[in-house]
Amino acid sequence: MYRTNNCGELNISNVGSKVTLAGWVLRSRDLGGMTFIDLRDRYGITQVTFNMDEEAALCQKAMELGREFVIRVSGTVVERSSKNPKMPTGDIEIKASELDILNPSLVPPFTIEDSTDGGDDIRMKYRYLDLRRNPVKEKIMLRHRMAQETRKYLDGNGFIEVETPVLIKSTPEGARDFVVPSRMNPGEFYALPQSPQTFKQLLMVSGLDKYFQIVKCFRDEDLRADRQPEFTQIDCEMSFVEREDILSTFEGLVKHLFTTVKGIDIPVLERMSYTEAMEKYGNDKPDLRFGMLINNLAPVAKGKGFKVFDDAESILAIVVPGSSEYTRKELDALTEWVKRPQIGMTGLIYLKCNSDGSLKSSVDKFFSPEDLAAWKELVSANDGDLVLVLAGSKNKTVKAMSELRLEMGDRLGLRNPNEYRCCWVLDFPLLEKDEVSGRWHAMHHPFTSANPDDANLLTTDPGKVRANAYDMVINGVEVGGGSIRIHDKQLQKKMFELLGFSDDEAQAQFGFLMNAFEYGAPPHGGIAFGFDRLCSLFGGTETIRDFIAFPKNNAGRDVMIDSPSPLTVEQLKELNISVNK
Ligand code: AMO
Repeated sequence: MYRTNNCGELNISNVGSKVTLAGWVLRSRDLGGMTFIDLRDRYGITQVTFNMDEEAALCQKAMELGREFVIRVSGTVVERSSKNPKMPTGDIEIKASELDILNPSLVPPFTIEDSTDGGDDIRMKYRYLDLRRNPVKEKIMLRHRMAQETRKYLDGNGFIEVETPVLIKSTPEGARDFVVPSRMNPGEFYALPQSPQTFKQLLMVSGLDKYFQIVKCFRDEDLRADRQPEFTQIDCEMSFVEREDILSTFEGLVKHLFTTVKGIDIPVLERMSYTEAMEKYGNDKPDLRFGMLINNLAPVAKGKGFKVFDDAESILAIVVPGSSEYTRKELDALTEWVKRPQIGMTGLIYLKCNSDGSLKSSVDKFFSPEDLAAWKELVSANDGDLVLVLAGSKNKTVKAMSELRLEMGDRLGLRNPNEYRCCWVLDFPLLEKDEVSGRWHAMHHPFTSANPDDANLLTTDPGKVRANAYDMVINGVEVGGGSIRIHDKQLQKKMFELLGFSDDEAQAQFGFLMNAFEYGAPPHGGIAFGFDRLCSLFGGTETIRDFIAFPKNNAGRDVMIDSPSPLTVEQLKELNISVNK
């Protein structure tokens, strides 16, 4: 038998028991005649002692153990003389009578303890060792709990889990496809699913009524902290539903997760239109944990002879509370921050509303005290506040102001990872125009239906049509999105037309779906949550990588298995892929 107990469960009530434990040597210490081993497994750490006077040979063997050796120890549970109240097993230790080395270990390339000396790269290369560390392991365990609770809730609400294929045909979710060559069909390729969108709609045509899947999706796009090339969705679809049915069902899922996983009761989700989110937060994924809403300063700032403002399409301001004491140096640094290429503004204008009531701006030359008082009033600033202003072309300024707001929120410590503010963003535009090609694009995807109130605008003013779509946003992160779908063939055809597909193209790419719509497709709708993002939010960090057992790095590489990698000439030939030699 390898073990009678695990390393995290023995306590004072077990004193006197004979036990066998197995695990990894976390560390060992020799203290004059006594050797102490901290033995670790998934469940915890237990201290094991070897006494030179009583068991000399055994103690000698223990002294030779290296870090991360896998061992089995038998002995008696005894009460410790110096207890460690920080450990669940801290009241006891095992007085060893037997020791087996099950497998030795090389010296690990970094210390496998809660805080390690290993840098990112080395830990990614030896991810299997990093996963032994508590902070890393706990994130994977959190993910497990989230997945189980998700299944519990959805199963309890009548959803059935169905697996959809991975070797499919391109689905337009906005990113590039990863493709797989087909040996049996020379010159042809499968695409890996960017999402199971069309399959889940077909399952509704099949009459399965409520579907879900915790499923891998693949998107070849530029990577960021919240994006991986392969990631996981909680993908769901329901028949005979309207928007409200979806919102309440999935508000229920998120509430269930918060209650069962975090022990938090979240209030009813706030709702905000896309337009309101863009106006107040400059962003369709608003972080509601703090204010600093965006104001349009144009009515009081334009036409006073200050060229930067007079030429600007947009003049936006935020009020940073209690920050009028910002020094010249701090303001210069902030100006440099908005000038970085990622933000791309030409400068930053400020107005200090000093606590004595006086006003000081960076553009005093152009604006009278009365003008500045009008700014202060328009943005509802108080004495002691700092007003920050950006001006320029509309899209750029909105985007930059949104970033600046988040940056100031961070600097003021207003984005507490343990506070959760969840909301639905509704009424997205159905379509957006590509500036370069002048073509319409589906903002969500081409299967999304129009808000019934706007359907008549589809042919007359497509840009004004609101989608029957919704995103769930938590703390400024888009954790999920979905829509009520088109279920009528003619309407779907019209949508493809609007998106610039010829009849033949639409038929070739999506004929299977439109044909299915002719055999009794029920009204249906759904949503998909980014499962990795949801886990990282629950875990209180922003990088989803930490919540994936074997993630890719920022260059899309798995440095542990060294992938992607070249194929041999033989493999390529077999796949009918020509090689330039
Ligand atoms: P969407 O494209 O909005 O919708 O994706 C749903 C959610 O998936 C997450 N997500 C990602 N997470 C990690 N890495 C990525 N590269 C990545 N891309 C997306 C986001 C996002 O909200 N088929 C539709 C859903 C539907 O209409 O039902 C879809 O995939 O959290």
